[in-house]
Amino acid sequence: MKIVSTVSELRGELRECREKGMTVGLVPTMGALHRGHASLVERSVSENDVTVVSIFVNPTQFNDKNDLKNYPRDLEADCALLGALGNIIAFAPEVEEMYPEPDTRVFSFAPLDTVMEGAFRPGHFNGVAQIVSKLFYAVEPDRAYFGEKDFQQLAIIREMVRQLGLKLKIVGCPIVREEDGLAMSSRNMLLTDEERVRALEISRTLADSVTFAENNTLKATKAFVESRINATEGFRLEYYQIVDGDTLQPVEEWGDSDYIVGCIALFCGKIRLIDNIKYKEVK
Ligand code: PAF
Repeated sequence: MKIVSTVSELRGELRECREKGMTVGLVPTMGALHRGHASLVERSVSENDVTVVSIFVNPTQFNDKNDLKNYPRDLEADCALLGALGNIIAFAPEVEEMYPEPDTRVFSFAPLDTVMEGAFRPGHFNGVAQIVSKLFYAVEPDRAYFGEKDFQQLAIIREMVRQLGLKLKIVGCPIVREEDGLAMSSRNMLLTDEERVRALEISRTLADSVTFAENNTLKATKAFVESRINATEGFRLEYYQIVDGDTLQPVEEWGDSDYIVGCIALFCGKIRLIDNIKYKEVK
């Protein structure tokens, strides 16, 4: 595994790969890698000759300074995990490398970015689009891999690729869960032992709501999730929305769409967690 920290070094490495006719996969990350990230990297390694894994805690997507300050960072452990996974170039730049000057670009993905995370984290998706587009321009990957845990992010990145007319393929990968069901997240390591146990109620409630939904209306299912989450001590629900999986707009009835997903965001103590569940996906 190679580790590079500048765009010019990265381009140099990739030029050599391209000259040999190799295909390139990109897995953008903010580090603190876990099995969820590993599954994206493994998928990329199986579909491309070389995989670039970017490790960069992107300041422009944080609307909360404390969240940025406390975001877990462990480059050594990240490299140890990646070293075992295949032909990988780890790209770990400093902030000045990615933002030599402030990025003043303003993206609009309405209505995808006006709901859920977009409503609760103003500017977040603009920051994500700034960094991910910079990575796409630097790497020019054939394919890029994103987890479905960040369901809205994945839809927005697909839309950004469409708007910018980029040629790469976006590959969405299923949520990876801990054995007990908690969706894997770098933020999980910030939970206290007690919060970690409590956080289980998120995936449990979402799973139970799928059974509940079989005999109940969409509105009742939304209320079922909201009341279970609100009844859990130490949780503060930001939203639970049941949306069309393509447009991300709320749906009223189960019959309104062939692709229906429930998306949740809440604070478990001070840690903000997100998760989602598919109620319906007709392919
Ligand atoms: O999903 C993430 O970890 C980040 O939003 C991403 C895509 C790496 C951009 O910083």
